Amino acid sequence: MQVLSVTPEIFPLIKTGGLADVAGALPIALAHQGVATRTLLPGYPVVMAALAKSKPLLTYQNLHGGKASLRPASVSDLDLLVLDAPHLFERSGGPYGDASGADWADNWRRFAALGQVGADIAAGALPGYVPDLVHAHDWQAAMTLAYMRYGKAASMPSVMTVHNLAFQGRFPATIFPELGLPDSAMTLDGVEYYGGVGFLKAGLQAASAITTVSPTYAQEIRTPAFGMGLDGLINLRAADLAGIVNGIDVDIWNPATDRHLAANFSAKTLKPRAINKRAVEERFQLDHDSGPVFCVVSRLTWQKGMDILNSILDEAVAAGARFAILGAGDAALEGALLAAAARHRGRVGTVIGYDEQLSHLMQGGCDAIVIPSRFEPCGLTQLYGLRYGCVPIVARTGGLADTIIDANEAALSAAVASGFQFAPENGDAFLHAIRRAIAAYAERPTWAALQRQGMKSDLSWERSAEKYVQLYRSLIMKKAA
Ligand code: ADP
Ligand code: GLC
Repeated sequence: MQVLSVTPEIFPLIKTGGLADVAGALPIALAHQGVATRTLLPGYPVVMAALAKSKPLLTYQNLHGGKASLRPASVSDLDLLVLDAPHLFERSGGPYGDASGADWADNWRRFAALGQVGADIAAGALPGYVPDLVHAHDWQAAMTLAYMRYGKAASMPSVMTVHNLAFQGRFPATIFPELGLPDSAMTLDGVEYYGGVGFLKAGLQAASAITTVSPTYAQEIRTPAFGMGLDGLINLRAADLAGIVNGIDVDIWNPATDRHLAANFSAKTLKPRAINKRAVEERFQLDHDSGPVFCVVSRLTWQKGMDILNSILDEAVAAGARFAILGAGDAALEGALLAAAARHRGRVGTVIGYDEQLSHLMQGGCDAIVIPSRFEPCGLTQLYGLRYGCVPIVARTGGLADTIIDANEAALSAAVASGFQFAPENGDAFLHAIRRAIAAYAERPTWAALQRQGMKSDLSWERSAEKYVQLYRSLIMKKAA
């Protein structure tokens, strides 16, 4: 089976969040099950820099306002198709915005172009290659499915995966004439969305099947509270909706071999974790004491509940907690968390920025990771925490609810507990969970049991990849029938 995956990010080349990890790991897991994936992605400067010289497979004299070509590449066992379109992607800054964080004004054009090329490939534009199915990730890739629907590849099966419904790619109606779609597409069951154009909406409408990244989030997005205006449409398509929880790359995230750690360890030999903890204490200028260090590795946003964290930091520190915080995001939250570090020298350390290596050391050295998200489609950092003996303390929502087993009495005595859950998402409940964790940490055998339980969990992609394969197969068979 041949699958064309379309994504705006892929690890190890370009990453702003978990989507990149998923786009990079799923093809490898699928390959083990006989599915060959080619991944189409934009040629941002960091991506172009990683490419060896290659002949273009396809050229465009005018793709949304400039010359473009499609270049093949092989990076870390990934079979890539890179869209080299300098007028759209050759810019400094991030994949979606400039260095100040402001979105590029022509994002609609950039990702419409990506979709157009995806649909062209689906329609056979590459000599000798026609995929059996197209899999689009998030709003940036969603227009692929719309261009397919209104073009030559209308009968090809497709999957639209929602990694985060908060990001929808919503634009004014004035862009519609420039998309090159037939007028009939600007309707309620097409790309029209609240009077404008909705990229994710268009993909959800056009896809043969919709998936999201955990079963609980798949249910949540059918409600007004989590549906972000799309719950109506998602309910209409409920028969085609599935939640498949993400796995992690257990080779990249392996505490026994991870080169970013000061000391390697495994479930059998947890002791070396202490060396990593010491390294974290140094890096975040924390006091040395016998209590737990809680960490944060996160985008600093409302979704991630970072304001809730900020609101309870003083009380958590008074209860004996120390915090190592790594993140970047909203300026107000960055400022507040830096101020907390200044207020609690030795107890709270804050590093603003994005640091992949440091994130590994924190998982391998901190005692617990806190994730107070208001909503969380899947969440990967709790999975990395499980794998590294860094006990997750999570809000009971989305994928966090699906992947962490709360350390209540029953779960502890059955030896299945792997972390702490709290609900509702507010400071009191969060603080209560932190106090429970501090108490459990004081009972070392209990804590070690929690760590070992997490480290035993099967977090690999295998089972989830199998579910994607089943889904792909059923869609291909349905279209053939
Ligand atoms: P989301 O994609 O919503 O941000 P996930 O938990 O799915 O949340 O994925 C976040 C990914 O980004 C994880 O791999 C996490 O380790 C990484 N990450 C987030 N913030 C940082 C940071 N400041 N430095 C390094 N890695 C980070
Ligand atoms: C999104 C979600 C996150 C999920 C990731 C990968 O960024 O916010 O919960 O883990 O995508 O699917």
